Amino acid sequence: MTPSPSASGSRLASRLGLSDRIFIGPQAGRLLSKVEAGLDLVEDGLALDLRVTDALADSASRYLYEAGGKRVRPLLTLLTAQLGDGNIPGVIDAAKALEMTHLGSLYHDDVMDGADRRRGVPSAHAVWGNSVAILTGDLLFSRASQLMAHMGDRAIRLQADTFERLVLGQMHETVGPQPGDDPIEFYLEVLSDKTGSLIAASAQAGIIFSNAPEELEAPMAVYGDKVGVAFQLMDDVIDLSPNPEDTGKVPGTDLRAGVPTMPYLLLSARDDAASRALRSRIDDGVAQIADGADPRILDHELDQLRDDDATESTRALAQEWSQAAVEALAPLPRGAVRDALTRFADAVADRTS
Ligand code: IPE
Ligand code: IPE
Ligand code: MG
Ligand code: MG
Repeated sequence: MTPSPSASGSRLASRLGLSDRIFIGPQAGRLLSKVEAGLDLVEDGLALDLRVTDALADSASRYLYEAGGKRVRPLLTLLTAQLGDGNIPGVIDAAKALEMTHLGSLYHDDVMDGADRRRGVPSAHAVWGNSVAILTGDLLFSRASQLMAHMGDRAIRLQADTFERLVLGQMHETVGPQPGDDPIEFYLEVLSDKTGSLIAASAQAGIIFSNAPEELEAPMAVYGDKVGVAFQLMDDVIDLSPNPEDTGKVPGTDLRAGVPTMPYLLLSARDDAASRALRSRIDDGVAQIADGADPRILDHELDQLRDDDATESTRALAQEWSQAAVEALAPLPRGAVRDALTRFADAVADRTS
């Protein structure tokens, strides 16, 4: 599917039901038009910036971009940029670079998680194999750095620091907690690093590159980080969703592959017989799948975990993090942008896609 640039703004903003949920109130219509105009520029720019002269690299680089995605990170950059000079070229370039970084991380993540579908299509490694998928991710990271390099030191630092945190988050998730680490605290740190980092950078970038008041950058970093943790906690809940059409991913990918998620960790922290039994059936299933058994052997346990208290508690935790994100908005001027960011945090904590 190739996105139609003219329709992309409203289509993109509606992905999370976002326009309906975020842009409410008398001044919201004007804000929505500005953000959508910015999203169109980002979308058209990405279509050009993802071109590569090598034919295979070209198809592989554009593959997941063309498959869709919610464009949550550019949306945040464009929203916070309206506290400054709005959709100016530096803001658009930063939004493109951060979405490209996200895109590159998805190519790598699907290899690491053994995930066969992404954005409703077979993942890149399922089409071209691991090496091409990994190299394509690397190519996207290079392109993102090239864009940031044109914007000077501050942009390069933001990109490098964010990427380091993202990579360490993925690394810590892979390695797991060490003796003495609390598994849940450890996991929350992983979420902040692997996902909060880039969402925080997106919210910050809108301030930095639109010449908005400097003192707004730190609160936006805190907001983005916390909203990112809420976003990723809901990703864990969505991983258990029975509706692949909502998510574009294979339901239960992480659970079946033994990748820890918050519902599983909360289940593991419980001491009652039913929780211990469910956990041990999941662990057995994961071990059998690792030895080549059909991943569907865990279908029943997946249903049970979805209906378990541990999943409800994960939702409640996502709401706490989203509430903390809203509290970080206190230093922002009252107005349409602050209202939209507040609603964005609320929407993230009960999203289904
Ligand atoms: C997926 O991010 C990876 C996570 C950090 C949870 P998104 O849910 O934003 O993915 P797209 O861009 O909409 O495909
Ligand atoms: C993705 O985390 C985080 C990054 C790509 C940095 P997950 O592995 O939990 O996300 P999904 O479910 O595959 O999108
Ligand atoms: Mg994954
Ligand atoms: Mg992962």
